[in-house]
Amino acid sequence: MPINVVLLGFGTVGESVYRTIASHQDGLRNILGTDIVVKGVLVKDARKSRNIASDVLVTTDFKKLLELPNIHAAIEAIVGVEPAFTYGKQFLNAGIPVITANKEMAAHKGGKLRKEAEANGTEFHFEAAVAGGIPIIAVLKQLLHANRISKIEGILNGTSNFILSTMREEGISFAEALERAQRNGYAEADPSNDILGKDSFYKLMILSELVFGKQPEWDEVDCTGINELVLNDLEEAGAGGKRIKLVASIGKDENGNLTAAVEPHSLDENHPLYHVEGVDNGIVVHTDLLGRLFLQGPGAGGPPTASAILEDLTQHFRSKPYQKPFVETSKVRAIR
Ligand SMILES: NC(=O)c1ccc[n+]([C@@H]2O[C@H](COP(=O)([O-])OP(=O)(O)OC[C@H]3O[C@@H](n4cnc5c(N)ncnc54)[C@H](OP(=O)(O)O)[C@@H]3O)[C@@H](O)[C@H]2O)c1
Repeated sequence: MPINVVLLGFGTVGESVYRTIASHQDGLRNILGTDIVVKGVLVKDARKSRNIASDVLVTTDFKKLLELPNIHAAIEAIVGVEPAFTYGKQFLNAGIPVITANKEMAAHKGGKLRKEAEANGTEFHFEAAVAGGIPIIAVLKQLLHANRISKIEGILNGTSNFILSTMREEGISFAEALERAQRNGYAEADPSNDILGKDSFYKLMILSELVFGKQPEWDEVDCTGINELVLNDLEEAGAGGKRIKLVASIGKDENGNLTAAVEPHSLDENHPLYHVEGVDNGIVVHTDLLGRLFLQGPGAGGPPTASAILEDLTQHFRSKPYQKPFVETSKVRAIR
């Protein structure tokens, strides 16, 4: 039997997941031992024309999606806490795993959904909700056994990083760089979540819950965006050999209390995040055994986010405990 999935949302992320399932079906089948089939898609506006196969249910009615028979996973890529939380909870209650890209929902309700999943013998996956395609959740889960993680710091918002890089490299104002980000499709018409630091904050709270088992009190976390930075700030930092970056950080102080902040920092070139440019994200994890680990990669966009979602899906259902060979065996020449 194939793995039947439903998609909640068919925007940048949902559509990219749909197309990637089609384009990567052979490789996925090799790992999973069966096909992934999209059975239904939930949207908000029924009048939009969409390129979706005619045998897929496309609906604005959540109940119809929930009533589809033999659904094995729900992929949630809509916007905001509600109705995403209520929808996710209903799938989990039915024992169906939920994979989300929705950071706002995961930051607010991720803990509840993880418990809901556990109570129903299934799982809630959220790799795509933090740092796009960078597999930071998988890496952190891997490190949570023997290592003690003391601190995580990262550039978690590609839009604001693009704005800062563009201001510095091209000597243009914040408004001009924001307009450029919007024109390139990196920032939404309402960019406030990105430039005010809220998007980074949500991702930080998701990381906190995973690594430290709890979140700090939200109103005790300093959250300052990049909207008040002017070109002169960046030039002054540059004259001192530094670059201003929007850094989200969380760690434990000497008393074991969580301290977190999202704020612009002047970093020198020895800091790994100094070198993260454009829409990339970067994350530094500090652990007692490993020391400092640094990951960098695309923090947003359809294909990187679809990558994270499909890795979650594959991880959940994989039937073989090994990877397919990197090189086809028939193409490997015999060694004489
Ligand atoms: N874009 C990225 O690079 C990225 C990266 C990581 C995570 N995310 C997260 O992934 C989620 C989706 O992002 P996106 O960029 O794909 O957004 P988007 O392009 O705005 O698409 C949102 C989709 O959700 C549907 N939708 C919204 N509200 C709905 C509701 N109440 N009921 C049913 N459908 C609803 C929309 O339907 P219509 O098509 O009918 O309008 C649309 O198909 C967000 O939570 C975002 O934060 C995005």
